[in-house]
This record gives sequence, structure tokens and C-alpha cells, in this order.
Amino acid sequence: MSPISFDQQDGWIWLDGALTPWAEARLHVLSHGLHYGSSVFEGERAYGGEIFKSLEHSERLLRSAEVLDFEIPYSAAEIDAAKRLVIAQNGLVDAYVRPVAWRGSEMMGVSAQKNTIHLAIAAWEWPSYFDPAERLKGIRLDIADYRRPDPMTAPCHSKAAGLYMICTISKHAAERKGYADALMLDWQGRVAECTGANVFFTRDGAIHTPTADCFLDGITRRTVIDLARRRGFEVIERRIMPDELGSFNECFITGTAAEVTPVSEIGPHRYQPGDVTRTLMEDYMAEVQPRAVAA
Ligand SMILES: Cc1ncc(COP(=O)(O)O)c(C=O)c1O
Repeated sequence: MSPISFDQQDGWIWLDGALTPWAEARLHVLSHGLHYGSSVFEGERAYGGEIFKSLEHSERLLRSAEVLDFEIPYSAAEIDAAKRLVIAQNGLVDAYVRPVAWRGSEMMGVSAQKNTIHLAIAAWEWPSYFDPAERLKGIRLDIADYRRPDPMTAPCHSKAAGLYMICTISKHAAERKGYADALMLDWQGRVAECTGANVFFTRDGAIHTPTADCFLDGITRRTVIDLARRRGFEVIERRIMPDELGSFNECFITGTAAEVTPVSEIGPHRYQPGDVTRTLMEDYMAEVQPRAVAA
């Protein structure tokens, strides 16, 4: 990835309805979204020039905003078209796409009913991680101190920027200790997810994953569950307590950025990336490829 700061790259960012030169896509310091966390975003990937499940991401963005009590002034179809424009205008093929919406500056207290809602869409080159042998070594996860909040405490089904405050703190703490990421428990002490990805385990040929009742039910998570069932694997969504972590054989995480990434360690527990993980890594990479349009 480029060492150039993200605000200084070349290219075009779609901002409030128009393509804007990259370095000019700015917001004012008195923006509600910055002061009060009234911002929602998406993380998407384009493969071969096409965004995987673009419409689902656009719809999730609109729902995330609704949960935060604001309405993005574009339809899912308009957002999809804007994302395609950004990819084309920047000449991207394999890319990460970042739509972000936030409350503007008209009101600067907690109340924000009159604030303009802004939407920006940026994209940058981000090739997928292709070396399966290297990847199959697995990543090491710490266990975070912070927990995913109770749904009565935070809008946990929105991809809201504010929810990532504890993710960044947890990921920094993990990286300081030499881990790649951290597994987070939920407010009841159950296994939840990583700081930017969902988690899966295998035992006796079955796949187990925490029920997504207080964290993001990832688009990749649902895709991988479908792929696994198509392969005939049993997939069990249930409450998983940390004292079970030693009883699983394989572990992997899923997310737009992570795709399907094997895990070799969580704290004191060891996993051996194996056939289930390898199969789902391959199936996922096949699934995300652009479909040839029938003549
Ligand atoms: C906290 C968190 N959980 C899970 C995911 C996986 O979601 P998706 O598969 O939709 O990218 C993400 C990534 O967006 C995330 O940030």
C-alpha cells in the first residue's frame, strides 16, 4: 500500500453528489459527525473491477444511518452508481471502497435534527491476499479487555464509526503484544468477534460461530455460512463461551478486508488451519469473482 497519507493521494473522491479531486475532499472541523460520532460507513471490495455484493453494502449503509436517526439523501441504487463511477474514474480493478456518511455543521450540540447529511465515497487499490500457503499459517489473536456492548447500550447493528473506538484501542493493545488482532467477548462474556471481522470454529467436522445478536452480522459471514452449507457442512450459530476455545480444531475469521483468514492462536489456545478453512478460503475467492454476463 502507498506510504502517502490517505488525504494526499491522487485521484477522485465522490463527495455529496460530485467527483472531487482527492486532496480537496474535506470537511469542516465543526462537523457533528466528528464531535459526536454521528457517522456510519462501509468497507467493500472490488474484484476485477466489480464490487462484491455492492447493493447489500449500500443497503446496510442506509440502515446504519437510520439506526443513528438520520437519512442519507441517496437511494441504494444511486450509491451503487456512485461507487461504480469512483472505481472507473480512478482506474481501479482490485480495490477497497469506503463510503462514509456523517452529520454536518448546522447544529453543534447533541441535538442534530437540522444538520445536512453528507456522503463521500473513496476507493483505493487493494489487491487481495493471494498466497494461500502463506495465509494458511494463520494469524495470532489476543483476547481484548473491552467487550462488545449490550444492544441496550449501543446501536450495535449499525456500522457506526463510534463503535470502532473500542476496536482501535483493542487492536493497538494486541499489536503492542505482537498479535495480529484481538478476539472480543460480548457484554455477557461470550465469544463475539474480532475488531473488524467475524469468527468461526470447527469441531468434529461441524462449524460453530457466535450468534450475531450484539455485533455486526457481516456480509462475508453470511456468504461463508451459505458456502459452507452448500458444501454440506453443518453450521451452528450459537452462544460460545470462552472456556470452549480449547475444544476447537480450526478457527478462521471473515470480513470484507480479511476475506477468510485462518487463525493459529487465540491467547493460550492453538489451532491447526485445515481442510474446512482451506475449502472455504477457496470457495470464497471463487464466489467474489465477477460473474460473466450471459449474452
Ligand atoms: C466489527 C466488524 N465485524 C465484522 C465485520 C465483517 O463484516 P463484513 O463481512 O460485512 O465486511 C466487520 C467489517 O466490516 C467489522 O468491522
